[in-house]
This record gives sequence, C-alpha cells and structure tokens, in this order.
Amino acid sequence: MNIIIKNGTIVTSGEILESDILIENGIISKIEKSLNTLDKLDKTIDAKGLIISPGGIDPHVHMYLPTPAGYSSDNFNTGSIAALFGGTTTLLDFVTPRKGQSLTDALDQRISEAGNSLCDYSFHVSPIEWTENTENEINDCIKAGITSFKVYMAYKGSVGLDDTNLQKVLKVVGKAGGLVTVHCEMGDEIEVLRNQFVSEGKIESRYHALSRPAELEAEAVQKVVDYAKETNCTVYIVHVSSEKSLKIIEKAQKSGQKVFAETCPHYLLLDDSKYNGTFKDTVKYVLSPPLRKKADQEALWDNIQKGVISTIGTDHCPFNLIQKSAGINDFRKVPNGAGGVEHRLTLLYTYGILENKITWNQFVDITSTQTAKIFGLYPQKGEIAVGSDADLVIWNPEKKNTISARNHHQNCDLEIYEGFKTKGAPEFVLKKGEIVIDKGELISNRTGLFLKRKIK
Ligand code: URP
Ligand code: ZN
Ligand code: ZN
Repeated sequence: MNIIIKNGTIVTSGEILESDILIENGIISKIEKSLNTLDKLDKTIDAKGLIISPGGIDPHVHMYLPTPAGYSSDNFNTGSIAALFGGTTTLLDFVTPRKGQSLTDALDQRISEAGNSLCDYSFHVSPIEWTENTENEINDCIKAGITSFKVYMAYKGSVGLDDTNLQKVLKVVGKAGGLVTVHCEMGDEIEVLRNQFVSEGKIESRYHALSRPAELEAEAVQKVVDYAKETNCTVYIVHVSSEKSLKIIEKAQKSGQKVFAETCPHYLLLDDSKYNGTFKDTVKYVLSPPLRKKADQEALWDNIQKGVISTIGTDHCPFNLIQKSAGINDFRKVPNGAGGVEHRLTLLYTYGILENKITWNQFVDITSTQTAKIFGLYPQKGEIAVGSDADLVIWNPEKKNTISARNHHQNCDLEIYEGFKTKGAPEFVLKKGEIVIDKGELISNRTGLFLKRKIK
C-alpha cells in the first residue's frame, strides 16, 4: 500500500517541519516538500492544519496479567485497540513465568498470548526466582530478541526477587550488555506495614498508600543504583513516583552511571487525596507505587524538563470493580493497577504541551523516540525518517473529549481519569503504513508483530 500525507506539520524529537511524507510498503520512503503524487498511489491524506508525530511506544503495559483476582481486564486485542485509539502503536509488555517455568517457555507462551495484538510488541522478561538454569535462560532470551529484563523488589511471595538474586540478574544482564528494569519498593518493609495496618482493622484503600511510603521507594532506588554500579549494568527505574527517588536518580546520572527513569501520567496528574472516600470511589487508585503528594507531581514535571526522566509509560493494568472488590474487607487483596494506555498521549498533549510544561519535541521524545532508543527499537520505531516504519499519529489539535469509562475503549468499568477534559486527539493513526484509525474510527484488524531486538 502506498500512501502520501500532504500539507502536514511533522514533529520529531529534534525538529518541526512542514513537509509531505510518502509511504511505500509500510516504510517511510520520502520526506519532501510538495511531493508529486505517484501513479501507484492508494491513498492521499490531506493533513492541512494537522500535526504528525511518530506512533507512541508504551514501555510499560500489563495485558492479560494473571493475578489471584483474575486476569487484568484488557487482553492484547482489547488493550492494543485502546492503545491505537490513543495514538500508541507499539507496546512493551512483560513475561512473568509461573514458579518452576523457564523464562524461555514463558516467553513462548507470552508471544502466543500477544498474537491478537493490533500493535507491534515486545517484552521485558522477568526472572522471579534464581535457579541453576537462569543465567542460560537469560542468554537464550537475548538470542530470541529480548534485550530488557524486569525485577520486582516488591510483591515478595509472588513475583518479587530478593536482593541476592537481584544482584545476580544485574550481573548476568550487565555482562551481556542488556538492561534491567526495576520496580523499586522495599518489599519486606512494606509487608510488615501492610500486616500491621490490617491487624489494627485499618483495611481501607488509603492504608494501601500509607503502607507504601515514598521513603521505601527511594530506599529501593538507592539500592538498585548501588548494585547497578557494582555489577556495571544499565538500569531503568519503572514508574518513578516521588521527588525523593528522583534526587537519587539525578545524582547517579550526574556521576556518569547509566540509570534511566520512567514515570506515568497518573503520578503527574493525580495525587493521594484520591484515597479519601468510599471503597467504590477509592479502590480504582489502588496501584503501586501509590499516588503521591502535589509536590511530587511538580518534581516529576521539572525532572522531565531537566531530562532526568526519559520516558512516560502507563503501567496499564486495569481491573473491573468486581475484581477490585476482592479487597473490600482487606486492601491487601485488591489487585494492584489501573488502565491508561489509551490516554497517555492525549493527557500529555493537553496537560503537558498546552500548559507549557513540555514542548512538542519533548512530547515526542518521552513518548516515543527515547523509548525506542533505550529499548533497542530505534530507528525502526520512534522516528519519522526515511527507512523507518510508517507508524504515525496525525493529530487534530482542536478535537475535544471528556475521558470516561462510558466512552473509553479500554475493557474496564473503572476509569482513573474520569471527567478529565482533553484537547487534541488522533484523527488518523497509521501502523506500518496502514491506516488503522480513520477520523477517530478503527478500520483495520491487522495484527501486529513481535519485535526482535538486538543488543548493540
Ligand atoms: O499497581 C501496579 N503498578 N500494578 C501492575 C504491576 C506493577 O507493579 O507494575
Ligand atoms: Zn511495578
Ligand atoms: Zn507495571
């Protein structure tokens, strides 16, 4: 399929230019002013007054995640459709093996679970235990196209790893030149606080937040930074939520260590006042780390500006009210997580660009280009350049919406951004040169591909 996009304004992480784009067989083949139409052209999109950015890459989603309260409510099909409506064309999800399952088996299983995704996808592979085979399994995953791994310092007793095994993962992945992403919260200390609250009858959602203070996130960040230095491994701290953690990360970066930081729209836009109210009103905000203070939000925006934070992911992990109700008498039983894959770009457009907190170039950088670079997808993804995949979002800057569980495409009856007004929305979304969203309607069900990545 050959498509020309005429008269648009192209935005990349480095420039803004008026130019036409020719797409041949899914790849950008020309970027020039006043391109002549080809004989073999299938479609012309007139993008006058519209803005073209690279398709979004969400580095942190959990589709169809198994938990004691059932699977997260979006599978790869429904979640990827929601992502496309919001302008995200590539997803990085996780491989979380069962106890006793090899990393490679779990990877194969996950690749088949993702077969109905309409976005392209890859995974961070999560060692949840250390056996005599783990080193070989990590190296086999690298050969299979995985360059990033994930360790949970929280969730001890299910997927959490202890410090000794965390260090082993860092050593092996560091030696191979890969990257370890880490959920930083001091799991054992949190467990003590959680149990203490419940034993005192403190069972409501706000105690979820009070049992996971910012200090215990920062302490874990410091530990990972220290271990990463000892093992010479690049680390990426997922869902950074607090000012305290940012200070540690900034110091490590200034010392020359390769430490990347990700945050999520909910830490930028929501705060811990959301934990005041009834079970029904507060339970949708039970996610980890929890929502923080307004001062933390400001620090997060500042650190995007300063470049300490490189990427924005959503940690998309929705559960329906009935699933969340598993914890009606005990916050420890509420499945952790919330949806957001659909709203990442429109929220950052409205509350970031339009409120002068970030520029258009920064928007592209943190939602696509940096992510592609860090995770070995660049320049196939994350760029508008000749030779790159034609994954593009064509924005209508005037289109308005009010986010609601009643009109979103995420498969969930809860919406943490309920009532948020947005301005600016994808008019067209192209994935590998095919129009998938056309004037706000989904018009394709072509499935995406598993993206094999390489360590440079
Ligand atoms: O609450 C969250 N974040 N749930 C998803 C799993 C994780 O910790 O990222
Ligand atoms: Zn996490
Ligand atoms: Zn997560």
